[in-house]
Amino acid sequence: MIQAVFLFPKGFLWGTATAAHQVEGRNENNTWRLWEEEPDRIHNGEKAGLACDWWGGRWREDLDRAAKAGQNAHRLSVEWSRVQPAPDRWDEGALDFYRQILRELVNRGMTPVVTLHHFTDPIWFAEKGGWESDDSPALFSVYANKTVEALKEYCNLWVTINEPNVYVSGGYLGGGFPPGKNNLKTAFGVFANLLRGHASAYRGIHKVQPTARVGVAHHVRGFEPARPWFPADRWIVNVLHANFNNAFPGALQDGRFRFAFRSMSVPEASGAQDFFGLNYYTAEQAAFAPFAKDDFFAKRFFPHGADLSPTGFIANRPDAFYKAMRWAERFKLPIVITENGVEDAQDTLRPRYLLQHVHQVWRALNNSWPIKGYFHWSLIDNFEWERGWGQRFGLWGLDRETRARIHRKSVDLYAAICKENGISSEMTEKYAPEVFSKLFPE
Ligand code: BGC
Repeated sequence: MIQAVFLFPKGFLWGTATAAHQVEGRNENNTWRLWEEEPDRIHNGEKAGLACDWWGGRWREDLDRAAKAGQNAHRLSVEWSRVQPAPDRWDEGALDFYRQILRELVNRGMTPVVTLHHFTDPIWFAEKGGWESDDSPALFSVYANKTVEALKEYCNLWVTINEPNVYVSGGYLGGGFPPGKNNLKTAFGVFANLLRGHASAYRGIHKVQPTARVGVAHHVRGFEPARPWFPADRWIVNVLHANFNNAFPGALQDGRFRFAFRSMSVPEASGAQDFFGLNYYTAEQAAFAPFAKDDFFAKRFFPHGADLSPTGFIANRPDAFYKAMRWAERFKLPIVITENGVEDAQDTLRPRYLLQHVHQVWRALNNSWPIKGYFHWSLIDNFEWERGWGQRFGLWGLDRETRARIHRKSVDLYAAICKENGISSEMTEKYAPEVFSKLFPE
């Protein structure tokens, strides 16, 4: 048997990512709490509820386990509705809560990355029109500045907004997120305001903390023509890529926002990004569908025989991850893999998914693409938005009744990767022998 180790650069960040509403529990003051109370919005009528009870203090034991498992970084998010429960009120206790987590991360030798907006909005903000309102960029920016001011002692890596494209398609193109709208024109306005909000926060954060490195976690999805010989399928793939993947980062590059067959100048967005945060999960095929106006004239699906996650949500496509990194590299910025993972309650697919995706990061590094870190989604099973608790993305599982943490074998695999600072033939043989010959061909 071949014996080899694919080593990563010294100082590479190995972590997991979480988001406030998904792990904290007891979030009473944001749009998702209201959404969860509406009938038929969430799978099985489930709620975030107590979630992983981080608000009750259980973040400490989870992050202890992460540190013991060799992780040297963690990405978490701050819940805006806690920090600013009303337009004219700041909750210093909430800021202390996050400051304490960050301090303890640093004490454990872990580098924190903090996201300021991860899908949830304060109820008061939504009542003012949310991101549809042209006041939203300034409101967000005030919150971002205040939060960075409070936390800057322990962190200088900031993600302003998580996956603006998913937020827009989820909430404004019928994707099952609040406010449950489906209107391309509104979506355009919301997307543009997220862009302005990011740009304004980007500049504000740099004033508050000159050493800050500020980016966005961009959700990048692979799209491939279902029939590569058919020009309309190739065209639709370009349309999807341009609208879903490229609209936001493209505007951050050249100040031109192009979405939904329209374009507009947002000059303040140009250059407003210090690193490229890349969230990648899967790739799918697209076929031209002339009547699918709401989905950019595309029908999207996973092909027969795909290596699918248990609920069919994700196909294991490490090759498309490589392509996503190749595309991201063109932005000529340091890249951080801010999310990558798979739902898999039984933990049968995750070990090979993890090894195969980390292997692609190693390949990318061999081309000298500037990848600085990898954050697996997620540390522990958490509330998966409109899919409720039906999908389990954690390295650790969560027993929802007792809130006990369940040790999955992927914990040990990821610990081995973090401690080795790379992947080895030995760990592949032990955890995912079925892909050994793919990673270590004769
Ligand atoms: C989001 C996470 C989510 C994950 C898995 C990403 O798009 O940023 O919040 O849990 O996907 O569904």
